Amino acid sequence: MKATITPTQIEHKMDVDDFIVSKTDLKGRITYANRTFLKIGQYPLGSLLNVQHNIVRHPDMPRGVYKLLWATLKKGDEFFGFIKNMCANGDYYWVFANVTPDSNVDGKLHGYYSVRRQPSERALALMVPIYKEMLTIEKRMGAREGPEKSVAYLNELLAEKDTNYRDFVLDLYKN
Ligand SMILES: Cc1cc2nc3c(=O)[nH]c(=O)nc-3n(C[C@H](O)[C@H](O)[C@H](O)COP(=O)(O)O)c2cc1C
Repeated sequence: MKATITPTQIEHKMDVDDFIVSKTDLKGRITYANRTFLKIGQYPLGSLLNVQHNIVRHPDMPRGVYKLLWATLKKGDEFFGFIKNMCANGDYYWVFANVTPDSNVDGKLHGYYSVRRQPSERALALMVPIYKEMLTIEKRMGAREGPEKSVAYLNELLAEKDTNYRDFVLDLYKN
């Protein structure tokens, strides 16, 4: 079971040459985490093996973003997004994540793979208020309807800007 950790306001920033890598099985249980993941998350070696990836989920993150992540993966596509993660002691760090289906050479899907890089301050300044509004919607609508409604808000907001989440975050990451 996931332990309850109290979030702190202490941020750990990724370095520009940091890569946080993890792999999971089909159910999202961690099968591999690189040293940078353990270091920034303050997890001892071996402690994340077979643990659900939601161990690093931060309560400031709207559930709608993970709904989007899993819907993208289930379609066989790769997901890009900005994610706030929690360290073992409640501190936090932001990442720009790429999550992809992970197949054997015979094409059989056996899990998922993620590489995370440093997000820019400019990108986060734009993402944070959007996620905040999504979270407000989720709190207002409740656990059942909330994530769907928050994703609808996100999609509508981005459609007004003639874009979608994938293109929006990729543009933010690149520029
Ligand atoms: C390869 C892979 C990497 C993931 N990386 C993260 C991550 O960095 N942070 C996170 O909160 N969730 C990540 N997730 C999503 C989690 O599995 C989970 O859906 C999410 O934390 C929401 O938790 P919940 O489903 O219990 O609400 C990842 C999933 C996969 C398959």
